[in-house]
Amino acid sequence: MNHTIDSLFAALWQDYLQQCPSAAAIHQLLGSGQALINDHVAFRTFNLPQIGLDKLAAHFIALGYEAKGEYHFKQKKLYARHFEHPNPTAPKVFISELLLEQCSSELQQLAKSMMAQLGDEAASAPDFLYSGKRWQVSRSDYQTLLAESEYAAWLAAFGFRANHFTINVNQLADFANLGAVNHALKQAGFPLNQSGGEIKGSPEVLLEQSSTLADKVEVPFSDGSLTIPACFYEFAQRYPMADGQLYRGFVAASADKIFESTDAR
Ligand code: NI
Repeated sequence: MNHTIDSLFAALWQDYLQQCPSAAAIHQLLGSGQALINDHVAFRTFNLPQIGLDKLAAHFIALGYEAKGEYHFKQKKLYARHFEHPNPTAPKVFISELLLEQCSSELQQLAKSMMAQLGDEAASAPDFLYSGKRWQVSRSDYQTLLAESEYAAWLAAFGFRANHFTINVNQLADFANLGAVNHALKQAGFPLNQSGGEIKGSPEVLLEQSSTLADKVEVPFSDGSLTIPACFYEFAQRYPMADGQLYRGFVAASADKIFESTDAR
C-alpha cells in the first residue's frame, strides 16, 4: 500500500517503540497522554547507490517533502540533508549517510556484503524505511565496525528504521523550555546524552537540543545475540529568526554530538 504522511509516521513510530521502549513512558511524562508534535525523525544509511540518502528521501519527496539544508560531519565521515513539508505540522526529516570511500576497505567490504543481501529494488518497497536489518552479520563483524565507526555498527545491527524521534518542545503545554524538560527526564530516571553538554546549541544559533541515551535491546546476530544501544528520544526547542518565524534548520555542531547518543557504553 502507498503511505500517507500520517500512516508512514505511524508505522515508523510503532517500529521505533520496539527499539526505544522508554519512548512510551517519556511520551506519557511530557504529554500527559496527549498527542505530541514531532520536530523531526532521523535516519541513517550508507552512500551506496541502491540504499543511499536519495533512496530514503524518495519516500518523503513522494509525499510532498522538499530538500532543504545540507550538513557535513567531517570527523564522522557523514553527509546529511534535511527535508521539510509545506505543512509546518508535518515532522521534518533528517537523513544522513556514511561516506564509504573515506572508510577502511574492510568497512567498505562489510557494508557492501550486507547491502548485497538486499534486492536491488529493496529501497523502493513501501515499508523500506522501517524494514530493519534484513541481512546476516556476525557479532565479530559488528565489533569490527564498532572499532572504526559507531554509526556503521549501529546501521549493521539495526538496519533501516527511525534512529530517533524528536519532541517539539515549543509545543509542550506543561514545560516552559528544554531545561525544564531535561529536569523532568532526569527526575524520572532517564539518562541524558552529556556529550558536548546536556543542551546542545543555544538561543544564538536558534536551536537547542537534548537527547536520552539510547535504550539497550537484545539484537540477534548470525552467531548469537548482543545487548547494545538501539534508538533514543530527542527534544528540540526552536527560536525565532529575524522575521519572527521559528528557525527550521539544524546545527551541525549540535547534531554531531546527538549522533553519540547511540555510542556503545
Ligand atoms: Ni535529531
